[in-house]
Amino acid sequence: MFVLGLNGGLGHDPSVCLMRDHEILFMAEEERYTRQKHARHQAPIHATAAALQHAGITMNDVDYIAASWMLNPTNQGALEGLLKSKSFLGLRVPKIVQSEHHLAHAMSAYFSSGYDDAAILVVDGSDAEGFSTSIYKASGYHVEKIQSFPVHDSLGHFYDAATRYLGMKNGNEGKTMGLACYGEVIDPIEPLEITEDGYQVNLSNLFPDDNDDFGTIKMWFAWFEHQFGASPYTRPEFNHNASQFHYEINFTQHQKNVAASVQRALERVLLNLAKQALHKSGSRNLVLSGGVALNCSANGFLLAQGIADSIYLMPASHDAGTALGSAQYCYQLYHPNPQKFQPLRSAALGSRFTNDDVAATLKRYNIKAKRCDDIAATTAKSLAEDKVVGWFQGAMEVGPRALGQRSILANPSRQGMLDHVNHIKGRETWRPLAPSMQREHAADYLEIADFEPFMLNARQVKQEMRNEIAAVTHVDNSCRPQMVDKQTHGRYWHMLEHLKGYTGHPVTMNTSFNLRGQPIVCTPTEAIQTFYSSGLDCLALEDFLLEK
Ligand SMILES: [Fe+2]
Repeated sequence: MFVLGLNGGLGHDPSVCLMRDHEILFMAEEERYTRQKHARHQAPIHATAAALQHAGITMNDVDYIAASWMLNPTNQGALEGLLKSKSFLGLRVPKIVQSEHHLAHAMSAYFSSGYDDAAILVVDGSDAEGFSTSIYKASGYHVEKIQSFPVHDSLGHFYDAATRYLGMKNGNEGKTMGLACYGEVIDPIEPLEITEDGYQVNLSNLFPDDNDDFGTIKMWFAWFEHQFGASPYTRPEFNHNASQFHYEINFTQHQKNVAASVQRALERVLLNLAKQALHKSGSRNLVLSGGVALNCSANGFLLAQGIADSIYLMPASHDAGTALGSAQYCYQLYHPNPQKFQPLRSAALGSRFTNDDVAATLKRYNIKAKRCDDIAATTAKSLAEDKVVGWFQGAMEVGPRALGQRSILANPSRQGMLDHVNHIKGRETWRPLAPSMQREHAADYLEIADFEPFMLNARQVKQEMRNEIAAVTHVDNSCRPQMVDKQTHGRYWHMLEHLKGYTGHPVTMNTSFNLRGQPIVCTPTEAIQTFYSSGLDCLALEDFLLEK
C-alpha cells in the first residue's frame, strides 16, 4: 500500500513523504527543487514528482494522499486540482486523508524514535486548529493528545516576534538563538508565566491581540518595544561574497542581552512543560517536535537537566516532518500493523545521483574532474591541508541540517576556519558552525555524549578539547554535534577515520552546502554552480574530485 504524505500549500516548508507498507521510500522538501528557501505557500509539486520518479510509480499507484493539515471545501478542491494537473498527467486522484497538524508532528517524531512509550511535546507557531503547543502520550502504536495551549500562548510566535524585534526576518530564529550566547539575561520576560498546568501568556491586558497568528506576534513585538526600546533599524547591504543584498546588523550588547533573556525564558517554560508532559504521560522518554524543537540550545538545556531517561528529536521536527506523520496516521487508520514503523536511522531520504549521472553532468559542462578510488581518503587529505570542501554524497538529507550528504566541510582544528567558512558562505561572522564526529569518540570531546545523529542538541565541549576544535566551539563553550555512526554513514565515517590519521581528531566542521539565503543544493549541477561561485577549494562529487 502506497501512501503519499504531503505538507504544504498553507504555510512554509512544504514537503512529501512517500511510504510503502509502513516503510519510508522517499522524503524531501519542496524548496530543494524550486530553489526558494522555505517555499512559502507552495504546494509540493516538484517534490511529489521526484518521489514518484524515485519509486518508479505514478499517481495511479498511490492508494492514499495523507495531508498534514485539516482540509476544508476550498483547499480540498485546490489539492484535487493540483493532483489532476499536468504535472501528474491527469491521472486519477487517490483517496485523501487528513490529519491534525500537531498529531502529525507528534507521530513523525515518536515513531522515528523507536521508543516503546513516550511523552511528546509539540511546540510551534500554530496549527490550523487554533493550538500552538500540545502534549501527547504515546504507548506502542497509540498516540493520544492530553493537553493543548491556544495560539495566544504560542511560544513559536513569541520567539518569532523577538527575532523580528531584533531586526531580523521571520525564519531567522536560529540566529536569535546563536546571538543569545553573547548576552547576559537582563529581564525575566514576566508575561511568560509558569503555572501548575504548564504556562500562560499574560499580555492581553497590556496589548490586546487580534486573536490570530499575526496578532500574537504583533502583541509580543509591542511588548518588546515597550520593555526594551524601539526595534533597531536595519537596511540591506550588498554582500559581495554571497552576491546578494542582505540585512547585516551590528548588534549592541543590549540587543544580545535581549536575545539571551528571550532564550532563557523559552527554556524555563519548556522545562516546565517537559516535566508536566513526563508526569502526565507516566513515561520516562521525552520526544520533542514542532518548529521550536529546532532550538538546539533549549534542547541541550533540557537534556542537561536530567529530567528524562532519554530525549529524541527527529531531523525534520519543523513542518516538513509532518508529511511523514500524516502518512503514518493514514496507515494507523486504514492499514494498522503495530510492528511495522522502523526507527529513523538516517535523514538521507531524498534525491540521489549515481556516478554516471555525475559523469554526464561534468561532460555537459566540459569540466575535467578526477575519479578517485577512495574519495573519503582524498577529502580527508584536503581537509588536513586546510582546504574547504564541498561534500556531495548519496541521498539528500531531509530537514534543515546538512548531515554529511550535502555538506561543506573544513578543518575544525585550524584557528580562523570559522571566519573563513562564514565568509565563503556569506554568513554573519558571529554565527557558530558545528562539528561532525565519529560516534565512538564523542565522549572524548563532549560533557554529555548521548547519541545525537541529527545535530539538534547543543552540548558543552570538554575544557581540554576547546582549543583542539576551536573553530566549532561557540563562545559559551557549546557545540551542536552530529555523531556519525559507521553502520549508517559508512563513507562519511571513513572520511573522519582518515582525518583522524592526519589531524588526530575524527572531527570535521560541517555546514550546509549552500550560500546565504539559498536552499541546500540538490543536484550535481547545483553543487557545481555553488562550487564555482564561491571560495570553496574542492568538490567531492560522489567519486569525482573537482579542484581549483
Ligand atoms: Fe508546525
